[in-house]
Amino acid sequence: MPALPKGEEIAQIELHSLYLRDGLDVSTALLSDAEKARVAAFRSRDAARLFIAGRLLCRGIIGRMVGCAPQALTISLTPYGRPYLPDHADIDFNLSHTTDRVALAVCRGGRVGIDIEQPGRLSETEALEVMPLILCERELDDIQRQPPEQQHKTFLSYWVRKEAALKCRGRGFLDDPRDIALEPADTTENMSNRPFHEANFIRFGSCHSENAPNFLWAVAASQMLPEPVWQQHQDIGSLIHDSLKLK
Ligand SMILES: CC(C)(COP(=O)(O)OP(=O)(O)OC[C@H]1O[C@@H](n2cnc3c(N)ncnc32)[C@H](O)[C@@H]1OP(=O)(O)O)[C@@H](O)C(=O)NCCC(=O)NCCS
Repeated sequence: MPALPKGEEIAQIELHSLYLRDGLDVSTALLSDAEKARVAAFRSRDAARLFIAGRLLCRGIIGRMVGCAPQALTISLTPYGRPYLPDHADIDFNLSHTTDRVALAVCRGGRVGIDIEQPGRLSETEALEVMPLILCERELDDIQRQPPEQQHKTFLSYWVRKEAALKCRGRGFLDDPRDIALEPADTTENMSNRPFHEANFIRFGSCHSENAPNFLWAVAASQMLPEPVWQQHQDIGSLIHDSLKLK
């Protein structure tokens, strides 16, 4: 197959999510010493559970992908706190969590960022307060032209897309989200965001699953994105047990 021109390669991407239902067992046994130290430092049990679940999801899925046991995968952090795989430079991944769910995006040959949010996490008042810190003038105008009942939803769709793009870039909110100019919210087509040195292609939507709350999601990548297919996991055990047989 002839090589596609630069900027037109299609990302190979996998999206996984895990709902942390009550009673789901998340053990630290397969985590690294550094990860265990982070768990010990959490004040909130819920935050610690989300962190552990994210790392188990990551170790189970990526370990199986590269043929190593979950506990053998080395995960390092950039100076900005972004996790990466020092032994697998061709694979990038990113994690996000919301109240009771973790999500993982894995990309081969490019960079990826993901954000998930629960629709009701921000109240209308909180949204009005943070909007000017997140949106550029054109986006604020776009929202103000919408009927009031639509404004909150549109804002959240901007928020997840911008956060995914910032996480793809790797500095999170150390960069100004107002510098990411997005098209209006009514499309899930690939959108190239050009102001940054490296373009981001973004897809977003909302995920509905049985017996679990809905969530909004956005994925940003350094290459064009196919329509993503979510793999939703109910349990981490089967992923981990399959991978445990690997060295
Ligand atoms: C990155 C950031 C947007 C994440 O915010 P959040 O509300 O925790 O959002 P999410 O749940 O979507 O993402 C959390 C995950 O993002 C990943 N992450 C952390 N820092 C990241 C970064 N700089 N870029 C991309 N991803 C990052 C981690 O996997 C983290 O989960 P984990 O700690 O359980 O592994 C936010 O922390 C930020 O802007 N950080 C700026 C960089 C910074 O201040 N670093 C300080 C530590 S050196």
